[in-house]
Amino acid sequence: MDRAALPDIISTGIYGTPPTELAEQPSGSTQFSPLIPGSGKLEDLAEGSLTEMVLLAPPGTVERRYATALALKALAPEGVLTALAPKDKGGSRLAKELKSFGCAVDETSKRHYRICICRQPVQLASIEEALSEGAPRFDEAIGFWTQPGVFSWNRLDPGSALLEQHLPALSGKGADFGCGIGILSGTILKSSKVTHLTLIDIDRRATEMTARNVEDARVEIRWADVRNLRLAGLDFVVMNPPFHDGGAEDQSLGQSFIRKAAESLRPGGVLWLVANRHLPYEGVLKPLFKRVTLHAEASGYKIYEAQK
Ligand SMILES: C[S@@+](CC[C@H](N)C(=O)[O-])C[C@H]1O[C@@H](n2cnc3c(N)ncnc32)[C@H](O)[C@@H]1O
Repeated sequence: MDRAALPDIISTGIYGTPPTELAEQPSGSTQFSPLIPGSGKLEDLAEGSLTEMVLLAPPGTVERRYATALALKALAPEGVLTALAPKDKGGSRLAKELKSFGCAVDETSKRHYRICICRQPVQLASIEEALSEGAPRFDEAIGFWTQPGVFSWNRLDPGSALLEQHLPALSGKGADFGCGIGILSGTILKSSKVTHLTLIDIDRRATEMTARNVEDARVEIRWADVRNLRLAGLDFVVMNPPFHDGGAEDQSLGQSFIRKAAESLRPGGVLWLVANRHLPYEGVLKPLFKRVTLHAEASGYKIYEAQK
């Protein structure tokens, strides 16, 4: 499709961080990724309010169809959607999915990506199913509010389950770093000695689900990057730190979480942590904490308590 032939662009949206050499991103565009704190929310946009959208499509099928359906709904008639993804992370299915929504798709390949450009088709076909499949829901099996795309959205993570078994009744002021949908926080708050709990996650959807799952006057929920936090004097921090960033293993993310916990705790405060056995966290814990205790090792996970 010839971009020069497009109508003047009034408002453009971006979803995620598509490589700039693959998709032009006009300056002044509004970001809509739930994984970038402070972004707008596609669900809240009036229908037809964007003239262009550049979307790095998420790898999960349900999440991807939901995001592309929301983007098409937010576009004005004839507005342009550029959706792209690595071929092996949903890219090879993008064109078919967009066609199922009634779009005439122009597809190209570059640097292992599939890039699909289409106009809003006015008569959107069957997006309702994609919107309802990707929406928040109460999952009877796990007993929590959840949404496709958030961490471990339809099953309890075995690492978190192991940490829950070993957590003592904590007390005072604390934080749950990377709270997900609030599973660990629910356990922490069973202790009446907990006076305040800050729950932080970089995923807006996770914080919204947490707000539904953890209704307690002692909690404060923040949509933020743990690495940018400024907390001090905490009695405890609990975490099942992430070790993937954008799909690739990133051990430095968990290591940053540990450093941030050490910075946020008062002397004598404790960090409770679960980690996959293969992750090299002990080397980061030992110089930062007075005492590091390995409490359990099972099913590929390790549970540590570290006292500052
Ligand atoms: C392994 S999951 C644990 C989730 C939850 N605590 C549980 O036990 O089910 C890690 C969480 O950290 C979040 N996360 C990843 N990077 C983050 C960052 N830089 N700042 C805050 N949260 C982050 C992810 O969105 C995810 O929900």
